[in-house]
Parts: sequence; C-alpha cells; structure tokens
Amino acid sequence: MTASLADKLLDWYASHARALPWRNPPCMPAPNDDAWPYRVWLSEVMLQQTTVAAVKPYFEKFTARWPSVFDLAAAGEDEVMAAWAGLGYYSRARNLVKCAAEVAARGGFPKTEAELRELPGLGAYTAAAIAAIAFGERAVVVDANVERVVSRLFAITEPLPKARKAIRERADTITPDKRAGDFAQAMMDLGSQICTSKAPKCLLCPLSDQCEGRKAGEPERLPVKAPKKAKPERRGTAFWIEMEEKVWLVTRPGTGMLGGMRALPDDGWSAQADGTGAAPLSGEREALGAVRHTFTHAHLTMDVVRIASADAPMGEGEWWPVSEIGEAGLPTLFAKAARLALA
Ligand code: ADE
Repeated sequence: MTASLADKLLDWYASHARALPWRNPPCMPAPNDDAWPYRVWLSEVMLQQTTVAAVKPYFEKFTARWPSVFDLAAAGEDEVMAAWAGLGYYSRARNLVKCAAEVAARGGFPKTEAELRELPGLGAYTAAAIAAIAFGERAVVVDANVERVVSRLFAITEPLPKARKAIRERADTITPDKRAGDFAQAMMDLGSQICTSKAPKCLLCPLSDQCEGRKAGEPERLPVKAPKKAKPERRGTAFWIEMEEKVWLVTRPGTGMLGGMRALPDDGWSAQADGTGAAPLSGEREALGAVRHTFTHAHLTMDVVRIASADAPMGEGEWWPVSEIGEAGLPTLFAKAARLALA
C-alpha cells in the first residue's frame, strides 16, 4: 500500500508538476552543479509563509544579481535586506546572509540533512527540503500543504499544532526511499492544486481511493486547527520629513521586528524602534492620514505625519532622494506610508 501511494503520486506528478523557476522537471536527476543547492535553498527560504506567486519575482531578481552562494556571501547585508524589502519576515533575510557566509566558508553546501541542520538559521523543514530536493536524500518534508494532505489521507482529527508529531510520523511511512525530492514537491503540488483548504477536488485526486478523510466525509474539515488568538490592535506614527526633495530615512536597529530595514522614523510604537524615532522636536506637523498593516502578531494602524522643519533630524539616518524612494528597500508598511505622503 505504501509503495503504491508514492507511485501513484509520482505518476500524477509526471504530468501535473508545476513548472517553477527553482525546479528540476520530474524524473530528471538533480543537476551536478554548485548553483543547484543554492537555488533550492534560496527558494525554500523565500517560500516559508509566502506564496509561490509572491516569491517568483524575488527569486528571479536574487539569482540574476547573485547567481551563486559565493556572490550572495560577498554582498553587503544592507543590499540583501533592501532587495528582500516587500517579501516580509525580515529575519529570513538576516539569516540568509549569515547562512551564505557559513556555506561560502565551507566551500559549498553540505549534502546531508544532519549537516544542513547545523547551518545558521536553517530549521528542520528547510534542511529536509534541501536534502531531498537538491541531493536526493530520503528526508521527510512537511510544510503546510503536506500537513493538509497527510491529515486528510490518514483522517487525523487531533488539532494542530499538537497533531504535528502524528502527521510527521505518517508522512514518514509514505515517503519513498528513492525520489524523495520529487515526492515532497508532488505532495506540495497536490496540496496547492487539488487537496486545497476549501473545496478540495477529490474527483481529480490520484490518492482519493486511499484517503481516509474522504471516506469519513468532509475532508475539508481537516486538518483541525486550534482556535486562533485574536491579534491585538496597535497604533503608532511615522514621520515624513522632507527637505530639498530628500526624505529622512533611518535604518531600524536590532534583530526584532523589521530590524535592519530602512524605514521612516517613528514615535517608537514598537520597542525595537527606540532611537529611530528621531523626529525633530520643532516644526509644523501635518496629518496625512493612516495606513493599516497586519503582522503575524498584531494589526497596526500607523498615522503618517509630515513635519516641515528647517532643522536636521536628530539621530542617525540619511537623506534619500524622494524621486528614488522605490529603490530604498522600504518594507511594505513604510512603502505604504511613503505612497500616502506622495499621493
Ligand atoms: N513550497 C515550499 N517549497 C516548495 C517547492 N519546492 N515547490 C512548491 N511550493 C513550495
């Protein structure tokens, strides 16, 4: 039963695999090329909590600018952070830079799941995905799509996140010894194309006759999720300080929220913003409106205030040409604020 499930899925994948810029077509041996594990690693980091559609242009931009892990390791952290702007979860970009430096120092990517796990910022999921997809090692790769498929296949009714252990154990039982990379990506494609959260297309599913969730009825109710906590509402202010067609930008300190990213100075609405809220004390203030943004942990309404002042702002920052604001690498929240100021 186990082998046949993997075989059926791999058969389906041969004709239904999505063509993606970081992918090898089904059945093709992994290219013996140093850029291959780099592309797999980069795509897997970008795809964490981010859709394929959002990742594609970033993946193309990064690989055109930094074709190998050695090129990326030689880049400045500020350049990489700016290129990542808009993709979100910025700690990924900081970890990317650290990991690239370590891989370059080792002369290339290690080839096993266990060694990959030793790289800075590289978690269990990413290590398994690279080992399977880039190096063909048998590794159990479980992302949110795979979680959904497995919880339905085996009718696992325990709620997430507690169910993760059971899901991983079940995923292990169906992972084949060969072509674990194709198998992992086939599970992901099945999850995103057929076994979707809402209205799964069971009639088109190559695994439907083995699916316990379907047999039990209402597979769309799986996986069961523990109720989400309501996100708190936060309020803050960002300052648009313009002088001679340049705007004052700061680099947010630390490793916390949006840390290391260029931003407008603010009033310290997040603890991390201490010291960046370097708005001048004097100057005429004009309320420009507010922007809304949702983080993983909170909703934020951020007022945007223009300050007209003849004084240079206090603290560290730089005057950035307003006409080139699109190249400043502002994260989405501050890009929205800039659009409001320039509207
Ligand atoms: N999500 C995470 N990794 C992926 C991959 N290799 N292909 C498609 N979607 C993914």
